[in-house]
This record gives sequence, structure tokens and C-alpha cells, in this order.
Amino acid sequence: QQLPALLRTMPKAELHLHIEGSLEPELIFRLAARNGVALPYASVEALRAAYAFTDLQSFLDIYYAGASVLIEETDFFEMTWAYFQRAAADNVVHAEIFFDPQTHTARGVPMEKVILGLHHAAERAHQELRISSRLILCFLRHLSEDEAFATLEGALPYRRHFIGVGLDSSERGHPPEKFSRVFARCRELGLEVVAHAGEEGPPAYIRTALDDLQVRRIDHGVRCTEDPTLVERLARERVPLTVCPLSNVKLCVFPNLAHHNLPALLDAGLCVTVNSDDPAYFGGYVNQNYLELFAAQPGLGAREAWQLAANSFEASFVADATKAAWR
Ligand code: HPA
Ligand code: ZN
Repeated sequence: QQLPALLRTMPKAELHLHIEGSLEPELIFRLAARNGVALPYASVEALRAAYAFTDLQSFLDIYYAGASVLIEETDFFEMTWAYFQRAAADNVVHAEIFFDPQTHTARGVPMEKVILGLHHAAERAHQELRISSRLILCFLRHLSEDEAFATLEGALPYRRHFIGVGLDSSERGHPPEKFSRVFARCRELGLEVVAHAGEEGPPAYIRTALDDLQVRRIDHGVRCTEDPTLVERLARERVPLTVCPLSNVKLCVFPNLAHHNLPALLDAGLCVTVNSDDPAYFGGYVNQNYLELFAAQPGLGAREAWQLAANSFEASFVADATKAAWR
């Protein structure tokens, strides 16, 4: 079993991970008790049993309910530190982590508690686990662009703690161009920009993420294969796709991993990466994504494993000088 060992031990970067999606049911119940938050589930088992999703929205409803237990800075710290320990076990050496401030500020949690809780866990991970990391603030696309502007404003006192912005939540009916002005402002501020596109939404959303938001990476992007001209463009411009295989199956984007199009994307010359998205909800952390995908796809071997790991570093936002030192 050389291939599973290679997948487990090879150093990798994780570029598509929602920190609120790393909140395990046990920690949800512990924080609910500590903070006096009522949950609509009787037990850890009952909560886990609800993780039977039919589409993105059915997941998001439960994901936002789970995040409602996060109140104090230490809650954000504990969640993030738990993620880093899992990441270290998977030989993740660099992580670019999404967070959804609006999920918390809407409940009256101050921006400072969110960002500093995450930041202090990242500092500890750097010191104790030798994992480098960066934070990426995501705007919720089911909310308005004005609310995104207000969120940006609220986060700017902590500008040094995040490197970029992204776009997540309900994709259908909320195309990237809804956020053109706020993304333009973010680019002016020197922030890196990424967006979820082509997970459930059509290939046209991938195009407008590129043209109107001028994103540097596409999160998911798997529906690009419905538009061969777009695939050619993604390959030519070497726009990375942060693909999340287990997520795609849990949210019924593909019926199973044997039908996932990641091998086709690699064959087309795209800079594809493997990531976990919301590992506490989708059945595993990043190594589980690699292991199950490779087990289901006989065409994937050591060569593809190394390619995917190399792509994860190429697609990361660390400076080119650091990338050279990694080689
Ligand atoms: N898609 C959109 N929004 C999200 C996701 C996702 O996969 N995970 C957490 N928020
Ligand atoms: Zn995601």
C-alpha cells in the first residue's frame, strides 16, 4: 500500500477550508453548554444524523446552526487550534483558511473576537506545529453588497491579520457580479481575491468571477467542464481550482467519487488542488479526500499525487521567494 502512504505523508497546502466547517459535533455541544446556547438537536448522534444533505442549501442551514455556538474569542481559538492539529496529522504545512464574519457579527459577536481568536491559533500553529497559514475573509453572497461593504469596513482595523477576501454561501441566484464594486475596493486595498463559482452555479459564474471580480483562484469550479472554451482559458491562464471531492459528493454535485471529474480537469492541464471544504460535515479532512478519491479512481497514481501536492503550493498566496525556498 505505497500509494496511501504517499498520499498521507506528502507535504501539502490546504487552500479551501472554512474554519466554521471544521467544528466537530462534540465541540459544538461543549460550546453550546458553556455558552448557554440552545441547539435544536438532542445529542451529538442526533446532530450527526442530520448530516444527510441533498444540496448546498440543505448543508448551509445546518452549518450556520452549528456556528451559532461560537461566542467568545476562546471559542474561535479552540475551533481553529483543533483544525491545525488535524492538519498537522495530515502533513499540511501551509493552510489558507476561510472565515465567515457575517455569520457571527449578525449575532452580535464583535469582529475582534472572531479575527483574534483565529489569529492566535494560527500563531500557535506556526510556533508549535510549524504550519504557516493565512486568513481569507469571505462575504456571504446571499446577503447584499452593502452588507459586504460594511463587513469590510468592520474588518479593516484587523487588515494585517488577513490576506484576502472570498465569496461563499448560496451560489444559485447570487452571481459573482453582484459583488463587483466591493471586490474592486478589496483589490485596491491590496487584498487577494477568490470566489466560490461553478460548484452548483453554471460555468457563466466562473467567467464573471474571472472577468468582473478578477479573482486569482476559483473555489470548486468543477462545472467548468460544461464549457470547453472556459476549460481552455483556465488552463491557459493557469487559474487554480480548489476542488473538494468529498464535499462534492455529500452535496450531490457528483453521485460518487468514481464519477468525479478531477482526473479530467488534471488531464486538461488545469492547476487543480485537493481540499476538504467543511471537513467536520463532509466525512473527512484533507488526507481523507486524497485517499478516497484515489481509491475510487484507478487512473490516479503517484504521479498525480505529486502533481496535486505541487499544485497546492503553486496556487498558494505565499510569496514567490517562499515558494522557491520550499523547492
Ligand atoms: N459552498 C458555498 N458556501 C460554503 C461552502 C461551500 O462549499 N462551505 C461553507 N460555505
Ligand atoms: Zn467552500
